[in-house]
Amino acid sequence: IKHIGILTSGGDAPGMNAAVFAVAKTANNHGIKLSGIRKGFEGLIDNDLLPLDPNEMQRLMHQGGTILKTARSERFMSAQGQNKALRTIEQNKLDAIIAIGGDGTFRGMLALSKISNIPFIGIPGTIDNDIAGTDYTLGFDSAVNTAVKCIDNIRDTAESHNRVFLVEVMGRDSGYIGIHSGLSCGADAILVPESNEDINYLLHKIKHYNSEDAFIVVMCEGDELNVEQVSSKIRKVNAHIDLRIAKLGHIQRGGKPSAQDRMLGIRLGVLATKAIINGESGKMAGVCNNKPTLRPIKSVMKKQSVDAETQDLLTLFCG
Ligand code: F6P
Repeated sequence: IKHIGILTSGGDAPGMNAAVFAVAKTANNHGIKLSGIRKGFEGLIDNDLLPLDPNEMQRLMHQGGTILKTARSERFMSAQGQNKALRTIEQNKLDAIIAIGGDGTFRGMLALSKISNIPFIGIPGTIDNDIAGTDYTLGFDSAVNTAVKCIDNIRDTAESHNRVFLVEVMGRDSGYIGIHSGLSCGADAILVPESNEDINYLLHKIKHYNSEDAFIVVMCEGDELNVEQVSSKIRKVNAHIDLRIAKLGHIQRGGKPSAQDRMLGIRLGVLATKAIINGESGKMAGVCNNKPTLRPIKSVMKKQSVDAETQDLLTLFCG
């Protein structure tokens, strides 16, 4: 292995730059050239590569987002796009690729592996924590910390006015961000895509709410009902309340990575690069029970729903 390409694809996540730094450092220690592929699969199609210097990456690893830039590439879904990507790999004499992203990124790499023998390793990078085969994905811890900060701020004003707040958090189809941020903030109810009962718990509880304190509901964007629908259901059972809606949105995705995400990025970057050097391919570098683990990409592609302990905690505190 003389030359590795690295890309970030799909939604950016805090900690991606730390992973790129760790790959750059490990590759450099082994005398391997590392090129960054800009804008994910778009850069592979357009031959948009840049050399990566470990010293420069060391200075940038604390930044949020991804310095390689990212995209959700439509063009890569076509055979034409994939063939162009193959030409870039050949022209630049890439011997392996490390791809950081979520399940869409891994699907892209699997598609590429059908027309090419290039070895690749995936690193799970998404704030949603919805990838199997790893305890945590890069960016999840930072996103939860940002959400917690925002919800704490909302509580201050909610308590001052004795208001009900419906706070929507990200996570696509997964309830992880909602449960971790909601429990950490002492939310009165948490609505997650994984449960149908949580709405009944919320409506029962808010029916008896006497407007003498704050009432915080954290709900996930992937829930069956949207915030407006939940708001109108709440008003039907308790017409006198003062209710506001706050959608946290992309604020959760930006910001500096937490120390935990930086460490996870460093660990996974080293693991992925060593795996490539050791001749591995088609695997994802993750941590299981806090131990570095390589799992076949195909086995991690199934939807990761919240684990039993998290689900139990939700039931204990919020119905
Ligand atoms: O997958 C990360 C994520 O932030 C999800 O939580 C959210 O549903 C989605 O990406 C938003 O995507 P976009 O930035 O393309 O609007």
